This record gives sequence, C-alpha cells and structure tokens, in this order.
Amino acid sequence: MNTLRIVGGLAVSLFLSGAFIAPSRAAQGDPVAGKATYEKTCSLCHGTTGKGDGPAAAALPTKPRNHTDGNYMNQLKDDYLFKIIKEGGAAVGKAQFMPAWGTQLKDPEIWNVIAYIRTLAVPPYQTTAAPLAPAAPAAPAPPAKPKEANK
Ligand code: HEC
Repeated sequence: MNTLRIVGGLAVSLFLSGAFIAPSRAAQGDPVAGKATYEKTCSLCHGTTGKGDGPAAAALPTKPRNHTDGNYMNQLKDDYLFKIIKEGGAAVGKAQFMPAWGTQLKDPEIWNVIAYIRTLAVPPYQTTAAPLAPAAPAAPAPPAKPKEANK
C-alpha cells in the first residue's frame, strides 16, 4: 500500500514538473522584455527585425543568422540557443563573430531573448507544450499556463 502511494506521488510530481518545465524553457521567458534586449544588444548584427541584416552585418565575413528563417531556426533546441547566446559562436563550433553575452546578460534575460526569437520564425515555432497537456491524467488540474506566455 505504502509503495503504491509513493509511486503515485512520484508520478504526480513527475507529471507536474514535466508539465511546467519540460515542454519549452523558452516559454518561461518574457518575449516583450526579450524584444527590448534584442533591439539593444543583437540588432547591430541580426537587424531590428531579426533578418540578419543589421548595420554591422555587411562587414562580417560570416553572416549573422536570419532569425526569421523558421525552417532553420525551429530545428534549434532551446538549450543550444542558450549556449550560443551565453557562450558565443565558438562554444558551439560556429563563427566567433557571434559574441558571448554571458557577462552582459543574466540567464533570465537570455531566456527572454530566446522567447522573443521564437516569435520571429516563419513558419512559426511550435512548442511541444500543447500536445503534452491533453495527455495528462485526470488529476485535479494544475492552473493552466496562460497562452500569452508562449508569444
Ligand atoms: C557582432 C555581431 C553579432 C551580434 C551583436 C550578435 N550576433 Fe548572433 N550571430 C552573429 C553571427 C556572425 C552569427 C553566425 C554564426 C555562424 O553561422 O557561424 C550569429 C548567429 C547567431 C545565432 C544562430 C546560431 C546558429 O546555429 O546558426 C543565434 C541564435 C544568435 N546569433 C543569437 C544572437 C543573440 C540573441 C544576440 C544578442 C544577444 C546576438 N546573436 C548578437 C553575429 C552577432
């Protein structure tokens, strides 16, 4: 009996943590705050609209990524984006012309920027959050994450 309860409790906590953390860490970020950081910090190279056409782009031997290219960007995982933004292009085998921002941006600010980058993609970036939610067991429903958080 006790074992059953422990297993049940474990399943519930796994479900809860999965529901809130696993789907997309970018969904935790605030895309509005991220936009402001992006325009201040990234647009010099990536352009204000993220097309990779910022004022410094022409002078760079490796062109800044077009963040609106969903066919490319949507394949990149959140953790990878976090690493290249925090540690720079060289840390992931990309051009060093993509600087490391870890000394200027705090981790939550990086997640905000990632949340914003996710809004730029055409075709749109799909989080895995939606398919996970309906498959959940019919336990007392945890408060649903507001949809706006994914924007
Ligand atoms: C000094 C110019 C410059 C600035 C400023 C800059 N980047 Fe980049 N970024 C680059 C270049 C160049 C690349 C292309 C690297 C490559 O393809 O090897 C790149 C690539 C990227 C990529 C794509 C990585 C990939 O796998 O293709 C992401 C994501 C990115 N930058 C995010 C950012 C973010 C977020 C900021 C602002 C916090 C930023 N960059 C600021 C130059 C810059």
